[in-house]
Amino acid sequence: MIVAIDGPAGSGKGTVSKKLSELCGLTYIDTGATYRCIALKVLQNNVDLDDIGAIIDIASKINIKFTKDAKTFMDGIDVSEAIRTMEVTKIVSPISSIPEVRSYMVDLQRKMADSNDIIMEGRDITTIVFPNADYKFYLDANVDERVERRYKQNIEKGINSSREEIKKSIIDRDYNDIHKVVGFLKRTDEQVYIDTSNMAIDEVVDEIRKVIKR
Ligand code: DC
Repeated sequence: MIVAIDGPAGSGKGTVSKKLSELCGLTYIDTGATYRCIALKVLQNNVDLDDIGAIIDIASKINIKFTKDAKTFMDGIDVSEAIRTMEVTKIVSPISSIPEVRSYMVDLQRKMADSNDIIMEGRDITTIVFPNADYKFYLDANVDERVERRYKQNIEKGINSSREEIKKSIIDRDYNDIHKVVGFLKRTDEQVYIDTSNMAIDEVVDEIRKVIKR
């Protein structure tokens, strides 16, 4: 079974997908983390963002694994926290816009689903990665609510950031995510659309479970 969830940054995809994975016995795959790993490696290797060839080379060789407890390993090292810094967040969207990078990551994401029932979240899961998924959802929320959620998450994770900085980053990423040449974020008639702005996490989880049970 494949449950695919798309939506913009801060729409609740990650938290909701993690809960659903536990409740429904599905393997959780966070595709944003795959692009974040490449961004982290670009920073670690001091690669210039204009050096598209070097970035594609990183994407072609990178080894990414997710563990059952939702940790991310890059080339054998636990990078679950390192991929969430503001430095990584700042450069990940332009990196994820490179078509060749996407092509490598989409292959990797499809392989991750090979022998598992999965719940996968990102921007192009319902449209490109698994257009034939059993269930497709689009989670949304207004910008101010998304900023507030990310701000609280960052505090919990000990990441230093201001609301203004997060708002700018979210608006920039929204623009970039919608205007990619391939793999752009879009709404379709096949997705179940859920505006989570005024919903608690458990309410969103319940709504998705109702659709799956049906
Ligand atoms: O979900 P996230 O914020 O961790 O994603 C990080 C970046 O990766 C985001 O700016 C958009 C990009 N991304 C993408 O292009 N396609 C996906 N399937 C998932 C994320």
